[in-house]
Amino acid sequence: MESPITFVEDELLRKVPSWRDYLSAKLGFRNHWYPVKLSREIGEAQIAQMTLCGEKILIKRVDGKLFALRDQCLHRGVPFSQKLECYTKTTITCWYHGFTYKWESGELCDILASPDSKAIGRRGVKSYPVEEAKGVVFVFLGDDDFDVPPLAEDVPPMFLDEDMALEGDSYVVESNWRVGCENGFDGLHVYIHRTSPLVNDTQRSLPIGHTAESGKIELREAPGEPKGVYDSFAHHHSLWEGRVEGDVVVKGVRNSRADGAPSRTTAASLWMPGVLRVDDFPDAGRHQFEWYVPIDENTHYYLIMIGKRVSSPEEALAHEQEFWSRWKPVSLDGFNNQDVEARLALQSFYKRDRAWLEEMLIEGDYPIIAWRELAHRHNRGVQCPEHLG
Ligand code: FES
Ligand SMILES: [Fe+2]
Repeated sequence: MESPITFVEDELLRKVPSWRDYLSAKLGFRNHWYPVKLSREIGEAQIAQMTLCGEKILIKRVDGKLFALRDQCLHRGVPFSQKLECYTKTTITCWYHGFTYKWESGELCDILASPDSKAIGRRGVKSYPVEEAKGVVFVFLGDDDFDVPPLAEDVPPMFLDEDMALEGDSYVVESNWRVGCENGFDGLHVYIHRTSPLVNDTQRSLPIGHTAESGKIELREAPGEPKGVYDSFAHHHSLWEGRVEGDVVVKGVRNSRADGAPSRTTAASLWMPGVLRVDDFPDAGRHQFEWYVPIDENTHYYLIMIGKRVSSPEEALAHEQEFWSRWKPVSLDGFNNQDVEARLALQSFYKRDRAWLEEMLIEGDYPIIAWRELAHRHNRGVQCPEHLG
């Protein structure tokens, strides 16, 4: 049985005034663009089902274009997805009493069991703006009267660049989306990756932690541009040896590349509404983009896209092939799986609202606080239980 979603107690919120909205946003933020599927997963005339920030949504491709509707009939609230009925390619009909809606606008255009009803043409089921870019389907989860910002404001810089070829895959992870963001951006957690096969495969250097000095984190907050926190790892203090009572017990890996290209991650940045970009990862000249999209308060959609600048279709194809033959097994399933394991463990603690105050962060966790505060300042609304209907 689904557990009831609750508001965070005011008493807790008062204790974190600089990141109050972030603590409230267990279901994510409203009025932002989120990736929900890969384009290749929704073929012509197919209908995809998903839950985004707790809202159940259906997406259909009609003549190549995607349309998204709330998966809940206006009449008595049942989900269309329980028994999908589409009598024409541009409409969907509720299986219960035949209320029929247009995919394009959500307008109630017919009622099969009551064709003369005055309700016809007067109301509509909620429809969501949809965009496809770089092989990814994005939905704008927002209020009907909200002025929809361009997608470019809600993805990391570089993602939409014309010469950036991208290929990726997705997972569903049983943890809150905020736990995903913080695990990805955490400068100290590289410690868990020391056993990853990626280190040998790429002859990478891998320290056991990065400590960003206070004040060295850059905030990107220009109006009309993506909002993010930028940590240039390569310029911060990297730890290569771990000691217990004075004795070295674990060492990082130092490699250098013959071609002089960076042999280690140079920077990580975390952007609204919850997407990480890692530069020179999983190898020099690549950029990893990863989203932690709220499904519900205990689950997120984990989308990983690896990008590389290319100058021809042949190079783009080579990048796609490299993704499946090399990065998918070695990096996504051999490196990021370690992150997933950590998030599952974090979730057992952070699923309680109070845990966010019981944690004991240290100096090196400063970038995480910078992220929470930025999310508090730049979100366009908090998704609340009352939005779920
Ligand atoms: S509940 Fe959908 S038509 Fe009645
Ligand atoms: Fe990681």
